[in-house]
Amino acid sequence: MAQEVRGVVSREKDAPVAVETIVVPDPGPGEAVVRVQACGVCHTDLHYKQGGISDTYPFLLGHEAAGVVESVGAGVTEVEPGDFVVLNWRAVCGQCRACRRGRPWYCFDTHNAAQPMTLADGTPLSPALGIGAFAEKTLVAAGQCTKVDRRAAPAAAGLLGCGVMAGLGAALNTGGVGRGDTVAVIGCGGVGTAAVMGARLAGAARIIAVDIDQRKLDTAARLGATHTVDSRATDPVAAIQELTGGFGADVVIEAVGRPETYRQAFYARDLAGTVVLVGVPTPDMTLELPLLDVFGRGGALKSSWYGDCLPSRDFPMLIDLYLQDRLDLDAFVSETIALDEVEAAFERMHHGDVLRSVVLL
Ligand code: APR
Ligand code: ZN
Ligand code: ZN
Repeated sequence: MAQEVRGVVSREKDAPVAVETIVVPDPGPGEAVVRVQACGVCHTDLHYKQGGISDTYPFLLGHEAAGVVESVGAGVTEVEPGDFVVLNWRAVCGQCRACRRGRPWYCFDTHNAAQPMTLADGTPLSPALGIGAFAEKTLVAAGQCTKVDRRAAPAAAGLLGCGVMAGLGAALNTGGVGRGDTVAVIGCGGVGTAAVMGARLAGAARIIAVDIDQRKLDTAARLGATHTVDSRATDPVAAIQELTGGFGADVVIEAVGRPETYRQAFYARDLAGTVVLVGVPTPDMTLELPLLDVFGRGGALKSSWYGDCLPSRDFPMLIDLYLQDRLDLDAFVSETIALDEVEAAFERMHHGDVLRSVVLL
């Protein structure tokens, strides 16, 4: 039986979002209905509301979520009712060229639920990133559910569904940070701070946090950065070189998504170092570099897509580390809010007041 629940809907460009009644169908083949327990507020939700991602309104927002599987459709083997799961927006197919070559994080045939959730009048909803979890219940593809240890706090676990995983994975997966490395992280919002934590987990000896906001630098220092650089006051490339005997960092992670910080990341790395770009640029951004600097510096320039994560491998492992007090996911939860406070949370996010606001249901 389809069920009516409450969800946060964005009906038109820039209009405030509101809690509305939505209809969640029974799970079809390969699908699962999840009772959402927590869902973080991410910049991407705001971009949906602002029309920056698609114009297929109305959207059901929310995508950084954890909850309990309520029911599954035919043929579902990944999860069963009662499982505690973290949702992800890249359920890989296992069949495409990227999957077959062992790089499923580049899968181009990711899938979501086939049936639509709707408004009460039957209008189909577009769920944010194929999830739509600012809702009491949501319908997803079973492959979007990863079972993790149920002792984890839902607010913390859900964060692995997007930004925090992107930052952790930039350090652990894409950057391949190793024991004793020097790592610089440019931009210490939710993603960059997670990259700091990832670098620490990997055993980096020095972690240099760069930001233009002293509050962010204080948080980064509390969570593992050994040095901080306020790039309004100091040229970060010079500061990083000075801290590394003139060489630069082994791994530099850019977590802003702007040409000037991409440039800083490029020049702040050691000769054989790795630059990881995890900040997402806008379509109009370009970066011009002298080719001789590219040629002459060696090393690697990599982009990191959702932290190059593999949910089935990474989520349970990171939750285990969290439960062993080796990964402080709780530190990202700046505040917990109710479903009808998402609009206000967008405002606080916009002003950089929070790492993450998390809706508890
Ligand atoms: N130099 C250094 N830091 C900067 C600069 C700059 N020129 N401009 C902004 N910042 C800092 C901000 O002060 C903030 O702390 O970058 C941080 C960005 O953080 P958030 O706005 O919280 O964004 P976050 O969720 O961390 O995402 C960062 O990664 O995955 C991508 O799409 C995401 O592009 C975005 C980036
Ligand atoms: Zn695939
Ligand atoms: Zn997100």
